[in-house]
Parts: sequence; structure tokens; C-alpha cells
Amino acid sequence: MDKLVIRGGRRISGSVTASGSKNSSLPIIASTLLTGNGTFTLHRIPDLKDIKTFTQLLHHLGAETTFADNTLKVTTDKVTSILAPYELVKKMRASIYVLGPLLARFGHARVSLPGGCAFGPRPIDLHLMAMEKLGAQITIETGFIDAVAPNGKLHGAHIDFPISSVGATGNALMAAVLAEGTTTISNAAAEPEIVTLCKFLIAMGASIKGTGTTELEIEGCQSLNATEFHNVFDRIEAGTLLAAAAITGGEITVNGVEPEQLKSVLKKFVHAGCSVETTKNSVTLKSSGKLLPTNITAKPYPAFPTDMQAQWIALMTQAEGTSHITDKIYHERFNHIPELNRLGANIEIRKNQALVHGPKTLSGTKVMSTDLRASASLVLAGLVADGTTEVLRVYHLDRGYEKIEVKLKSLGADINRETYKEF
Ligand code: EPZ
Repeated sequence: MDKLVIRGGRRISGSVTASGSKNSSLPIIASTLLTGNGTFTLHRIPDLKDIKTFTQLLHHLGAETTFADNTLKVTTDKVTSILAPYELVKKMRASIYVLGPLLARFGHARVSLPGGCAFGPRPIDLHLMAMEKLGAQITIETGFIDAVAPNGKLHGAHIDFPISSVGATGNALMAAVLAEGTTTISNAAAEPEIVTLCKFLIAMGASIKGTGTTELEIEGCQSLNATEFHNVFDRIEAGTLLAAAAITGGEITVNGVEPEQLKSVLKKFVHAGCSVETTKNSVTLKSSGKLLPTNITAKPYPAFPTDMQAQWIALMTQAEGTSHITDKIYHERFNHIPELNRLGANIEIRKNQALVHGPKTLSGTKVMSTDLRASASLVLAGLVADGTTEVLRVYHLDRGYEKIEVKLKSLGADINRETYKEF
């Protein structure tokens, strides 16, 4: 197993390019299942565990892929199975993204129910509601979702999501593009990852109106084609790297990211006392190291993203006062807090709100990763802690960050990956 060994106290400064977005790659790769016409060439796909898991799932279904230099080629003309097995789905809940495309193309999908995850239940009722609206008959048996489209075709519908869901919006889009007739989606997620998915589906020949808004209209078509596509950069990785400079009093330029996609986060960095300058595709942040307490509430886009909540809590341990951090998307996404407190932070949890009392000098020790963004927050804390911090079980981090220790080392961090054995 791997750990990251960090000796704190070094300023994070310099220039780095973000990797491709994990959370837009996954629905894009799932969408390749919608057609067997040709080979997809997908650029700027990050080399991550979650991507490997997803391509394993595609292989299981019969697709063929090659991956080199962050370019993924996918051919799905020989897809023969519609079964997504438990062994793969339990490794990554985003496997649920194959439900819509398999149902749309083959009229049948059999997907293992995804597990929960470290920060609470992750229901899929909205995914199933959307598929049923489009005409699917769904049964849940022996831990599987079995979805069948009568006479093999879905039909257009009006889907009105009671709450904003990135995944359910993605599945609804991928199912609707081959349905007979028009589908409208109200209260659709408008996250940049959904915008990118819409652009990809349109590049495949789909007809989608309202991209970037919460009201989408899809005109189903007979068939789609493979295409070449450049994925967007990862806005959450970019935000995490900016936080590394903010917490260590450094200066960083992150290239590739579109500032608009991180607007709510950049605003909060300014409130916290950092200076932020942007160009069309880069962000430069400068921090004096003195940070002001800054409250955040994680909500659907364009509000502050829940995927930056853990990183923000780590940052606020160094702010001069108390910060209120509320997560309205995942009320229990606070597993990082006990580990941050073991480093010497003073953070209270009250229901879905954390009160971070700063500034607190952190002292390095061994800390345990519990999920992807929690492990990122522990790395940030380690960068500023006195002494040595060992972040264990970094397989969590490897799910969503491509060579993060290489990037941080190039920016001045004293950080190394080492293997270790657990008792
Ligand atoms: C996506 O998860 C992201 N994952 C998550 O990022 C991100 O935190 C989340 O969106 C919110 O932005 C990927 O894109 C692979 P949701 P998703 O459906 O689609 C509730 C990371 O760190 N809900 O938008 O699963 C749900 O419980 C990961 O990269 C239902 O009630 O999230 C939550 O409260 C973690 N029923 C809210 O909606 C459903 O059927 C938003 O969840 C689906 C969701």
C-alpha cells in the first residue's frame, strides 16, 4: 500500500497544468456505448484508478480500448453484454453511468446496485425515475437493477428532477439522445461536467438545447457516431492546487482551467485574503499566508462545490478566526475532520456544518485517508504542519488526482510516495 510522506513548512510556488477532468471523463466514456459506428479518440483523459476501473467495465461489456499519453481510444462495435457486475460497480459508483447508454442502445441493462461510500448513502432513485419516465421497466432483484425498454426503444418524456443531481442528469441525457421523440429535463444539473457531456453528445450527432442551463431539451435521433474530443481540465484538482499555495503562503499559476468553472471558489479565496488573477485558461493565486476566516455553503453549481469542501476546511484551520462550513449536498461528508483534529486542528461538527476555529499550528503525524477529497485535505494540512505528516491509504487520492505528489514536488513541496504494510 502507498503513503505520502510530507515535511511541512515549504511554500508552494510556481506554474503547473491541471490534468483532464475525472468527473467529465466518466460520463463521456460511458457515452461511447451509445454507438458502434467507428472509434472514439478522447484526449486529456486523466490516468486515474477510476478511469482504469471504468475501462475495465467497458472491456467486460465487450468494448475495446487503448490508452496512451492521456488519449483514450474506444471502439464499441463488439459490445455483447449489458451486464455491469457487482465486482466492478462496487469499486466505483459512477459505473451507474452505463445504465442510460446500454438501455438506449440495446433496450436492456443489468447493473449492480452501487454501494454507498465513505460519506453516507448515495441513492440512485433519481436515475431510476428518469429511466422509467423514458419508458423503461425497472425491477430490482438480487442486488441488480434490471431495466428493459419495451420493444427495445425508449420514448421522449418530461423529466423534472426534485433535486439537482449530476449523475442522474448525465444518465437521463445519455438515454434521451436515442429515445423516440423529444425529452425535456427540468432542474437539470448545470455543472461544467454536464456541459462537457452535452458538448460531447452533440459532437456525436445528438440534438441538445439549453446546454449550461437547468432546462434541457433533447431531440432523440436514430443513431450517433464516434468522434474525436478534447476533455476539459479538472476544476477540482485546480482548486486543490490553488489551496496548496493559499495554505503555505505561496504563489501559483494553474494552467488549463477555465476560471468561470471555479468562480465561486476564486471569490472565496479573495475573501480569505488571497489575490487572484485570471486569464481565459489560467488562474494565478498569491497568498501572504495570513488567512481570513471565510464561511462557505456547498450547493449545486454555480455555488461552492462540495468537492472542494474538505480542502476548504483544511485551509480554514490556518485562518484567524472561526469559519462556518456547511455542506448541503452531502450532510455527512466530514470524515476528514477527526484526522485534521489529530494534526492539531480545532474543528467542531454540528449536523451538516463544521466550525473551524483558527489559526491552529498543526503538528505532523500519521493520518488516514477515508475518501478522495478527505485525503486531499490531509495533504494540504501536511504541507503546512510542523514536522512530518504521513497520509496513509493514498489509493483514495489516486482515484481522482493524477500524480499529485509529482505536481506538488515541482512546486516546492517536500513530499514523497512510499510503500508500507498495514498491521
Ligand atoms: C457527482 O456525484 C460527482 N461524481 C461527485 O464527485 C460530486 O460530489 C457530486 O456529483 C456532487 O457535485 C462524479 O461526477 C463521478 P449527485 P453524483 O447525484 O452524481 C442526491 C468526487 O469527489 N441524489 O449530484 O453521485 C445525493 O445523495 C465525487 O469527485 C439522490 O437523492 O452526485 C446528493 O445529496 C464525490 N438521488 C445529491 O443528490 C439520486 O438518484 C447530489 O448528488 C442521486 C443523487
